[in-house]
Formats: sequence, structure tokens, C-alpha cells
Amino acid sequence: MRGVSVHQQTAASPFIRACRRESVPHTPVWFMRQAGRSLPEYHKVREGIPILESCTRPELAAEITMQPVRRHSVDAAIYFSDIVVPLKAIGMDVDIKPGLGPVIAEPIRTRADLARLRDLEPDDVSFVTEAIGLLLGELGATPLIGFAGAPFTLASYLVEGGTSRNHERTKAMMYGDPELWRDLIDRLADITTSFLKVQIEAGASAVQLFDSWVGALAPADYRRHVMPASARVLDAIGGYGVPRIHFGVGTGELLGLMGEAGADVVGVDWRVPLDEAARRVGPGKALQGNLDPSVLFAPSAAVEAKAAEVLEAARASGTGHIFNLGHGVLPSTDPDAITRLVEYVHTSTER
Ligand code: CP3
Repeated sequence: MRGVSVHQQTAASPFIRACRRESVPHTPVWFMRQAGRSLPEYHKVREGIPILESCTRPELAAEITMQPVRRHSVDAAIYFSDIVVPLKAIGMDVDIKPGLGPVIAEPIRTRADLARLRDLEPDDVSFVTEAIGLLLGELGATPLIGFAGAPFTLASYLVEGGTSRNHERTKAMMYGDPELWRDLIDRLADITTSFLKVQIEAGASAVQLFDSWVGALAPADYRRHVMPASARVLDAIGGYGVPRIHFGVGTGELLGLMGEAGADVVGVDWRVPLDEAARRVGPGKALQGNLDPSVLFAPSAAVEAKAAEVLEAARASGTGHIFNLGHGVLPSTDPDAITRLVEYVHTSTER
């Protein structure tokens, strides 16, 4: 297992130390979607290659993962992939359509459909192990974050057949056939667990569970219908000792339960200040976030003023803090604004 020696190498990094709520020389910073559409060098290397194909080419995925590390000097890399990659790897007919996002040819809506979702074997995603192997040499002491979609967010794509505003078919299954729903998200919890294990064993130093759309749920429904599956994923990888980050959007009312689900770090969107988020999440967790991604379109003085507010709320929270946006980098963001923000976070928090 390559993981072990890598974890020793990255343990002293500000990112891993902040995840563990240890003291840091400066606040670490990385950005969701730091690799990808905001970078001209990304468009160049991906020219003519469909997104899902680019995820299965180890050299290309490794190159795209490295691009923001070289350009912005962020404190962590995030492995370039998509949350539907493991679904494709077990044979689901899924595609990513430009401007639309993931599209599932035959959605999962009945018990018979469920049979098409088999468990993930490491061999299904050997390209991931290979890409992470390539990355480790280049990254050195910079940690690599692995990631996967959380059961609810994956289920929403599978049941709806694509991106959804209201998640109506997903909720119809959850409320109308709770047993089928439970079996579906338990199956997805297994797939997600297997996929995260592959990344950790290949050498990822931390992982993030993306439950991007879970903010669509009321707390009681989250607790009853979703939290057990997410908690099972987080628990199943707990033995590795790598920090586990749990993130969703619009989760202000869910932060307490997301803390309870078992992550080490809770990712927060821009709607809740971090000191208030810390109260909701409860003790013993670090926080990640939470500058509004749209702020990066304002002049740099305004970006710095808003970033200073995030840092001040993080100080007031009294817990570990990893600076990030409240959601991913928007595609038309000026890359120089991102570089300047990294510099600002580093210099203004130097201790
Ligand atoms: O910069 C890029 O976004 C280009 C590459 C790309 C990815 N996914 C990589 C990815 C593209 C075009 C997609 C399609 C896609 N997949 C979309 C966008 C549709 C569009 O055109 O706007 C969406 C919503 C998905 C599904 C998905 N993928 C979700 C919900 C998430 C979780 C993160 C989130 O944004 O809420 C992902 C993860 C994902 N896909 C990452 C990357 C690089 C995340 C890792 C990271 O944070 O860098």
C-alpha cells in the first residue's frame, strides 16, 4: 500500500495540519474546481477530448490536476475526475453533455433497475490508481485530495436521469418506497466507499465527500433517509486516518447533522459565516470554506475585504480552518484573481 509513506510525507503540510485542528504557519487554501474550466492551459490539453474520456487517461488527468498547483501555489491538489466516473466504471450508460452536466440514458427507478448497479472493483478504475501514482512523484509534500459523490447526490442523478432543480422523482422514491430508496443509497454507499478506498490506497492524503445537492432536504428527512448512508461511507474509511471532508451546498440547516455523520472537516457554503457554522457543527471538527465564488468577479480590493471577513469568522470559530470557496470556481473566473487570493490568504495569515 503506497498510501502509508505518502501520508507521513504530507502530515506536516498546513492543509493536513488544519484538517486535524493543529497549529499552522498560515491558513491553507485550495479551491473546489481549481482544476478545469477557468484555466486556459486546461482548455488547451483537453481540446477534442470528451470530459469523461479525459478522466480515464492517467497522464492527462494527472496533468490537469497539477495545473492549478503550479499556477496558484494552492496548498492541496484535488484529483481531476467527476462524481459520475465510478458509475460509468461499473457499466452505467452515463455521459456528460456540455452545458447540461451528467445524463443517464436509463435512469434507476424500480427494483429491477437496481440490479444494474453492481459494486465497484479496484480493477474497474485502474486508471485512477495509475494517475495518482504519477501525481505523487510530482506533488512531493503537497497533499492530494481524493473525492467521491455522496449517496444522495449520486442517487439524484441516477433517479432523475440528469441534473434536477427540484429532485422530484428522487423524493418521490424516498417518500413513496423507502425500502427501495434505502437499498439504492446503501448500494451507492458501497460504491462510494470502494472508490474512496482505491484513491486512499493509491496515495490520496485526504478525501472529500461531495453531497452537492443535499441542501434540498429538510433536516428530519436528511436524518432519516440519507445520513445513515453517508455516515456508513465516512465510517468505513475512518481506519485509514486520512482527513475526511464532508461538503454540501445550501446546508445551513443540516450542518449539525453533517457534523454528526462523522467527517473530520465540514465544508460550508457562503450562506453561513464560519463562526456560526462552528456552533452548528459542534466541537471537534475543522471547517472548510466559504467565500462566495461570485466575489472573484469584483475588483481585488473587494475580494480581499470579503476574504478578510471569512478569515475573521474562522478565527472567531476557534477551530481548524481550510480556506476555500463556498462552492466550485465558476468557469469564467479570471485565473489571476485566484492566484492573488491565494497570496492574500497566505500573507495575511502568516504566523
Ligand atoms: O472545470 C470543469 O468543471 C470541467 C470539467 C467538468 C467536470 N465535471 C469535472 C469535475 C465538467 C464539465 C463536469 C460536468 C459536470 N458534472 C457538471 C457541470 C455541468 C456544467 O456544464 O456546468 C456537474 C454539475 C457534474 C456533476 C458533479 N461533478 C458534481 C455535482 C460534482 C461535485 C462538485 C460540485 O460542483 O458540486 C462534481 C465533481 C467534479 N467534476 C469535480 C470536477 C473537477 C470536482 C472536484 C473539484 O472540486 O475540483
